[in-house]
Amino acid sequence: MKIVSVVGARPQFIKASVVSKSLRSRDGVQETLVHSGQHYDIAMSDVFFEELGLPTADMNLSIGSGSHGTQTGRMLQAIEGVLVPEAPDWVIVYGDTNTTLAGALAAAKLHIPVVHVEAGLRSFDMGMPEEINRVLTDRVASLLFAPTQVAVSNLHSEGFKNENIYCVGDVMYDVALTFGHLAENRIDLLKQLSIQSGKYALATIHRAENTDDIHRLCAIFTALRNLSREITVVLPLHPRTRARLNAARLLEQVQQELVMIEPVGYMDMAALTRHAALVVTDSGGLQKESYFHGIPCAILRDCTEWIELVQLGWNELISPSAHDISERLVQLLWRETPPRATDGPFGDGHAAEAIAETICSNTPSRYV
Ligand code: UD1
Ligand code: UDP
Repeated sequence: MKIVSVVGARPQFIKASVVSKSLRSRDGVQETLVHSGQHYDIAMSDVFFEELGLPTADMNLSIGSGSHGTQTGRMLQAIEGVLVPEAPDWVIVYGDTNTTLAGALAAAKLHIPVVHVEAGLRSFDMGMPEEINRVLTDRVASLLFAPTQVAVSNLHSEGFKNENIYCVGDVMYDVALTFGHLAENRIDLLKQLSIQSGKYALATIHRAENTDDIHRLCAIFTALRNLSREITVVLPLHPRTRARLNAARLLEQVQQELVMIEPVGYMDMAALTRHAALVVTDSGGLQKESYFHGIPCAILRDCTEWIELVQLGWNELISPSAHDISERLVQLLWRETPPRATDGPFGDGHAAEAIAETICSNTPSRYV
């Protein structure tokens, strides 16, 4: 069975690491890993391949950055150029980035069945580029691997056939279980930054709706600066956010008050998360990882596609347009952590195996 897996952005390297391993351990599976080149800095790409044992990409299309149309269009063309000669039985795509959509569309137009890992997530905000990408990708997928029951319900309510949907759990939970315990004793970075376990908040901000709107960008960084008067705030800075802070002439000021560092690898990030007192983020992945590591999390967004943890009372959604973000962050910091659900919503930590098993036991067929 020939499979082409398409990845390109930081969270996709993490998700693909466990699925790729599981696929390649099976007889008769030949996987070609294609990197779109959407993320290209060493700290945004290479480090994840090295740390998580993801095989080196067989092809790097080196598409790089650009406007949505340019980036997605160039990927579509380049991925088609790979799929025609490869003629795989399946194309696997992950999550909701422009790489996801380009991979799915290139395959669907060639009548190659598409597998979507992380199907059915919905924020119900079509203003988000990610929501457009996931809705369209699901629509052309033959196998929809949903991480949670909520995702399954979303697909049902959009009329997807049950026989195409598999609720397998979240592959990021698999990764956290595989590598998370190693993070416990990985304190070199904490020492280097002169921070102590439980004595800092960890923040990441990168979502376009937050970085590309000057009011929201200012509100978020004002709140983080206020929070830093209560507790040290560590911020591994996404390149998009660095560029926007720089353009708004905020970078220097923010740098003085927060512990701002370059993006870190998965293992250092897991260590930073596990030892934090609070996580403040707009990341899709990190809002779940904080739960996996037992750390409360404030989500600086208007909505989330991972609603389960908000409903459980673990995560709190705080809109960056709310007038009282700073107060709510401080309240959350000192709040007593609620008990964790014994039966978490993200599966049993074997999502990747279930995905590989299902792909191998299905006859490829186009979704109609
Ligand atoms: C993308 C995804 C987002 C995901 C995020 C994960 C889309 C539409 N968005 O957002 O869903 O949460 O990845 O991190 O696909 N840049 C660099 N070096 C890099 C990569 C990017 O400097 O290695 C800079 C460039 O200036 C670029 C900007 O970051 O223009 C944004 O990168 P891009 O890949 O377009 O979107 P992300 O914000 O990373
Ligand atoms: N992450 C990382 N280093 C960082 C910031 C994030 O390894 O400096 C990891 C994080 O732990 C999670 C993933 O990257 O596993 C999430 O990626 P990101 O927030 O970029 O994208 P999203 O999940 O929002 O699509």
